[in-house]
Amino acid sequence: MKIFIDSANIKEIKEAVSLGVVDGVTTNPTLVAKESRPAKQLLEEICALLPGPVSAEVISLESSGMVAEARELSRIAKNIVVKVPLIKEGLKAAAILAKENIKTNVTLCFSANQALLAAKAGADYVSPFIGRLDDISQEGMALIRDIRQIFLNYKFKTQIIVASIRNPVHVLEAAKIGADIATIPFSVIEQLIKHPLTDIGVQRFIEDYKKIPK
Ligand code: E4P
Repeated sequence: MKIFIDSANIKEIKEAVSLGVVDGVTTNPTLVAKESRPAKQLLEEICALLPGPVSAEVISLESSGMVAEARELSRIAKNIVVKVPLIKEGLKAAAILAKENIKTNVTLCFSANQALLAAKAGADYVSPFIGRLDDISQEGMALIRDIRQIFLNYKFKTQIIVASIRNPVHVLEAAKIGADIATIPFSVIEQLIKHPLTDIGVQRFIEDYKKIPK
């Protein structure tokens, strides 16, 4: 499973990339707004940090506006992937952009039928938001299982990005299901590394090393 970092923070992205486990980045307008910097400049900087895909979202609600924004965003760097929302106009935009070889990530996906349509429209990636489903008492991970099954049935090439991840259990379940990608907040990546027995073990080895006669 590929790991993307769900962040627009340069420090977090740099730190995550240095771990050698990060294959890409996803941003959204909420994450970009937190950085209080012009979006274009910020995206340029993020794209230079790693060769993998960096998702940047459009905000137009009409397909024509989305396509215009997508063309603009794709000029920022080779590794830009354009995020379009899973609404009618977003599907139209994804279909147009597929023909122009501009990569798309169809986002805000909350049902398997929506994911099926994204794949049919030619999206490179689809992002089901599991945490937001859990928040309203629906099992987010069930959606990933359904989409995986549908994509396998018809051999769709669209990759599933498990999004809106809130904890390490989400990551574990996504990997067990066989999702292509999990996009993970930095805090959760840090949680994945941690194990109390590892820390106790490291400490004990340091203490015991001191007892070895020099
Ligand atoms: C994915 O691409 C989104 O940026 C993100 O995962 C949304 O997560 P949230 O529900 O925590 O905002």
